[in-house]
Amino acid sequence: GSLREHQAATIPHPRWRLPLLGDVLGINIRTPLQNSMEIGKTLGPIFERDVLGNRFVLASGADMVAELSDESRFAKHLAPGVASLRELGGDGLFTAYNHEPNWSKAHNLLAPAFTKSAMRSYHRTMLDVAGELTEYWDRRTDGAPVDVSSDMTKLTLETIGRTGFSYSFDSFERPRPHPFVKAMVGALSHSQRTTFVKSSALGRLLTRRADRRNAENLAYLAEVVDEVIRARRDSGETGPEDLLELMLRAAREDHPDKIDELNIRHQVVTFLVAGHETTSGALSFALYYLSRHPDVLAKARAEVDEVWGEKTPAFEQIAKLRYVRRVLDESLRLWPTAPAYGREATVDTTLVGKYPMKVGDWVLVLIPALHRDPVWGDDPEAFDPDNFLPERIRSRPAHVYKPFGTGERACIGRQFAIHEAVLVLGTILRRYDIVGDPDYRLKVAERLTLMPEGFTLQLRRR
Ligand code: HEM
Repeated sequence: GSLREHQAATIPHPRWRLPLLGDVLGINIRTPLQNSMEIGKTLGPIFERDVLGNRFVLASGADMVAELSDESRFAKHLAPGVASLRELGGDGLFTAYNHEPNWSKAHNLLAPAFTKSAMRSYHRTMLDVAGELTEYWDRRTDGAPVDVSSDMTKLTLETIGRTGFSYSFDSFERPRPHPFVKAMVGALSHSQRTTFVKSSALGRLLTRRADRRNAENLAYLAEVVDEVIRARRDSGETGPEDLLELMLRAAREDHPDKIDELNIRHQVVTFLVAGHETTSGALSFALYYLSRHPDVLAKARAEVDEVWGEKTPAFEQIAKLRYVRRVLDESLRLWPTAPAYGREATVDTTLVGKYPMKVGDWVLVLIPALHRDPVWGDDPEAFDPDNFLPERIRSRPAHVYKPFGTGERACIGRQFAIHEAVLVLGTILRRYDIVGDPDYRLKVAERLTLMPEGFTLQLRRR
């Protein structure tokens, strides 16, 4: 369970509690995360919520998260929303329990695919896909605004498909998004929504229809994974040096870290989902903030013009966009697109000297609230890329910025995401004047991950 009831008596919780429904009436089932952020504003940096008898403790204080990052006392916990994704990802990297042997095997096998030299080898493909996005936008003749999240999802799915699996989803050739996207969003939303409801018999009854639809989505996703693997098998013995090849080769060569066929499938779906959904959201939020802050936009573009000029950027020229990188970092501060992660005690311990935890007790780190802790200054809601100037970073304590999680189970794709996102932002800024709809009010959709909803941009070639 999470922090024990009798020990955690001092953890505040919302005032209204109904015996059966817990705090559920206080939550909008579609936006549990933003709802928790709201509750946290009154209850403070640690509080608990009760949803249908399930107790959650949410923590966001800088001091607490710093302790929770101590790997000698805490480790990843599969929070309910993530645990229910095991139907999809099994013991793949993201959803594996810490003790499962396939986690360290796959981690060792795939680590070489996330080194700097591996990033260098993806650079060309990332540029190609960014080029396809701009061609796709240039081909449009109606001059209507573009749906940012939908197009960023096309781009990031295409990038992970091609770099990881040498597989194209033909995202920019089809009139509608690839059905993989709809099935995935369905599966993520279902996981989020049923997490709480499932614990009660009534809830299970109510979700039967949704469960059937979910089973269809999962079956379809499995079909896509089969197709990705089949495409490789059909193309001959060895493929290009990508994620899939690393796994298939280990099996062929009887490597000590080899993983079996079922686990390979779990890794493929894990990377297809984890490798694009959050990056797409990050790009969308960054474009939203750029469109809202003309001064930031002008500065970012001036940097791109100066560093890249007219030429195709070389690998080294991506990381030289220091200001664009700060725009991305700051967007992920306000809206970390994978907004929470679980931490469980691995020893009996006391959190910040106040909250006793037994082995196995866990809390959920509410990342957007951590990113608005007082260490971020007087106006943490304000978008300010200069928060990531080196001297400002140095002036803050460690462990106050966690968009990629923490410790051994932190995001393996972090550098991949950053290289891709900075490359794409630079490409867009260099080519277009971007204008947001002045009447648009930021609305954040939740499906375990975060995404701006209904945000469009008017593009004009410079
Ligand atoms: C893990 C965020 C991009 C693959 C994580 C975790 C976070 C995260 C917070 C830890 C979750 C936990 O502790 O439960 C993000 C964000 C991204 C991003 C915000 C983009 C802006 C990517 C990309 C890939 C990827 C591009 C793959 C190419 C993974 C995998 C894990 C993971 C496989 C599980 C690692 C493990 O437990 O060994 N990510 N991620 N992510 N991410 Fe990412």
